[in-house]
Amino acid sequence: MKSIVTGGAGFIGSHLVDRLVDAGDEVLVVDDLSSGRQVNLPSTAKLEEMDIGDERIADVIAGFAPDRVFHAAAQISVSLSAREPMTDAKTNILGTLNVLDGIRNAPGDPAKFIFVSTGGAMYGEPEALPASETLPAMPGSPYGASKHTVEIYLPVYERLFGIKHTTVRLANVFGPRQDPHGEAGVVAIFSKAMLAGKQVTIFGDGKDERDYVYVGDVADALAKSAEDGGTGPYNVGTGVGTNVNTLFGLLAELCQYEQKVNYGPPRAGDIGKISLDSALIERELGWRPGTTLIDGLAETVAWFRENSA
Ligand SMILES: NC(=O)c1ccc[n+]([C@@H]2O[C@H](COP(=O)([O-])OP(=O)(O)OC[C@H]3O[C@@H](n4cnc5c(N)ncnc54)[C@H](O)[C@@H]3O)[C@@H](O)[C@H]2O)c1
Repeated sequence: MKSIVTGGAGFIGSHLVDRLVDAGDEVLVVDDLSSGRQVNLPSTAKLEEMDIGDERIADVIAGFAPDRVFHAAAQISVSLSAREPMTDAKTNILGTLNVLDGIRNAPGDPAKFIFVSTGGAMYGEPEALPASETLPAMPGSPYGASKHTVEIYLPVYERLFGIKHTTVRLANVFGPRQDPHGEAGVVAIFSKAMLAGKQVTIFGDGKDERDYVYVGDVADALAKSAEDGGTGPYNVGTGVGTNVNTLFGLLAELCQYEQKVNYGPPRAGDIGKISLDSALIERELGWRPGTTLIDGLAETVAWFRENSA
């Protein structure tokens, strides 16, 4: 199989690239390296350093002739999307349509499109948790709205242009290689700060709950959704919510961190509690998370210990 992974030099994308390369795929990564890093990539994966909004992406797709395109490149910050909705939409809507147009205009059968969407920012704050895909989309941020917008385009592109797709809605992903410098990725941010003995800030009262799913399990879910299954959307999470104070405690123990936490004001666009019901992807694709929270956190802290300069 020939696979393109947009955003493949990033956190989730690079774990997927590892899976695909291990399975014998020929892989081309399209990434502008805005947050991704070339060192995340195995030497056998090729890299095209390019913005997904660049019109030349059509030539890249036509030249490589992929069987499938995994689309992980995105503006990923919820709070940036609340400050600058246009910046978010430019990458997450227009950039994505540019990739789809590249697939549409390439000769031969169009590649299958696997869309990396969000579950954490899709459903608002449902009363009953974990949230299943049958709930209506109620994004609480421009980031969630831009991801949902693409989800609406995909069946249209399938009907009009024959581009098959699967949408995967991820919970809060954590693990090795997550960028600890951004605003998203609380496990990476806390791990890095704790190992360096720095002050850790929790925005809000720490009672917000998220569904933390390990990146290796997410890479498996993405690889599986390219093989078979329907269009989704498929939730990919553990079904269990963990609050930020609990997460702080678990990481503090793993990092042997003894300082007290600092509480800051809540951030715009953040929601209170979310966890995802992944029964559909289990039923249709046989996927379920294989890594416990504590094992995943231990792997992550070990990685930051080895890789923090
Ligand atoms: N991390 C999570 O918890 C989570 C949850 C739900 C969905 N997602 C989605 O998963 C995908 C990957 O996120 P991640 O956490 O690995 O973040 P990341 O920042 O590590 O990965 C994004 C990658 O896309 C690249 N990129 C960004 N803008 C680009 C552009 N305009 N052109 C080309 N490349 C560009 C970056 O350089 C980076 O390598 C995103 O689509 C994100 O919305 C992530």
